[in-house]
Amino acid sequence: MNDFSDRLAALDAQALRRRRRVVDSPCAPQVSVDGRPLLAFASNDYLGLANDPALIAAAQEGARRYGLGAGASPIVSGHQAPHAALEQRLAAFTGFARALLFSTGYLANLGAVPALAGRGDAIFSDQLNHASLIDAARLSRAELAVYPHRDIAALDAALAASRARRKLIVTDAVFSMDGDIAPLPELLALAERHAAWLLVDDAHGFGLLGPQGRGALAHFGLTSCGPASPRLIMMGTLGKAAGGAGAFVAGAEEVIEWILQKARTYTFSTAEPALIAHALLTAVDLIEQGDARRASLAARIAQLRASFRPRRWTLLPSQTAIQPLVIGGNAETMAVAASLYERGLWTPGIRPPAVPPGSARLRITLSAAHTEAQVARLVEALEELEG
Ligand SMILES: Cc1ncc(COP(=O)(O)O)c(C=O)c1O
Repeated sequence: MNDFSDRLAALDAQALRRRRRVVDSPCAPQVSVDGRPLLAFASNDYLGLANDPALIAAAQEGARRYGLGAGASPIVSGHQAPHAALEQRLAAFTGFARALLFSTGYLANLGAVPALAGRGDAIFSDQLNHASLIDAARLSRAELAVYPHRDIAALDAALAASRARRKLIVTDAVFSMDGDIAPLPELLALAERHAAWLLVDDAHGFGLLGPQGRGALAHFGLTSCGPASPRLIMMGTLGKAAGGAGAFVAGAEEVIEWILQKARTYTFSTAEPALIAHALLTAVDLIEQGDARRASLAARIAQLRASFRPRRWTLLPSQTAIQPLVIGGNAETMAVAASLYERGLWTPGIRPPAVPPGSARLRITLSAAHTEAQVARLVEALEELEG
């Protein structure tokens, strides 16, 4: 046995080994894994756009016009017409002066946060923020203050106590493993009061919340006639509700220009394929016209919450597409996920470090593409397994 086999065995002993499944069909509620049909509540394709015919056609057209690869970083020669058009479209859609496209949300955070704050500065981060924000804060070399989840008073005190030259608050808008929404107006008020910047990661709100799906900031009216404050910066991802891949950071002109100059994940990485940016222009149109899809999703969320009342487990009080069912132990959670799988249902078990120890859960994600009957089938199976 070498060191790594011992370490892998330790992961097994704690029921922490991750195993992938090979999906041999497009992302949709009905998928095929090893030729076996499964009903999935597992993806972040909240509007059912990942396999939409209009987006497939747009990607094909994009491939015909721009080929496959961008060939270089955007600051060398990889910034093509669809990237430029998509940045403009996203800025206008979210109500900011300018947007910058990244090839994933993880890379957007890992690039933008260290560009905004560095040594001698301080970052204030919600305890339940996504791993990409946590890693970005560590990479920045700024002082890191983690505040209790959604605790405005604690954040206020930490900001007041800080002597840092520059202060940056970072938060998920919709928390990725809990589904609850950050108190964005209160966070912005604190940012104003303490002359701090506020970066809002709207990975799970963009396309879903606010008028025409413009995002969590729009939901709170913080971008209705332009951003409520020049201190506001938004990150949105394009691989979830938008059904594609990539991400963007939006904000005031000079803030985005600074990120373009300084974000190393932007400078030192090949641009996302233009065919994806081209398809995403259509995805933004579909999001904008997507009230019917958002209404279907809201109906499925309401159905799940009204029809499923767990007794031993806890369905967290989320109003979004992320409906976490906390079971507790890692092994028990994975056993429930495995029993569902045997019944043809796919709901991923989420364990530490994605969630705090002792709060392992099924992360049930709902989509506009799910039918009433499919959600009813999940509820029936969960009730049977809870016993
Ligand atoms: C809150 C949050 N931020 C960032 C990301 C990373 O985005 P991407 O999957 O595009 O890398 C995710 C999910 O993956 C997320 O949930």
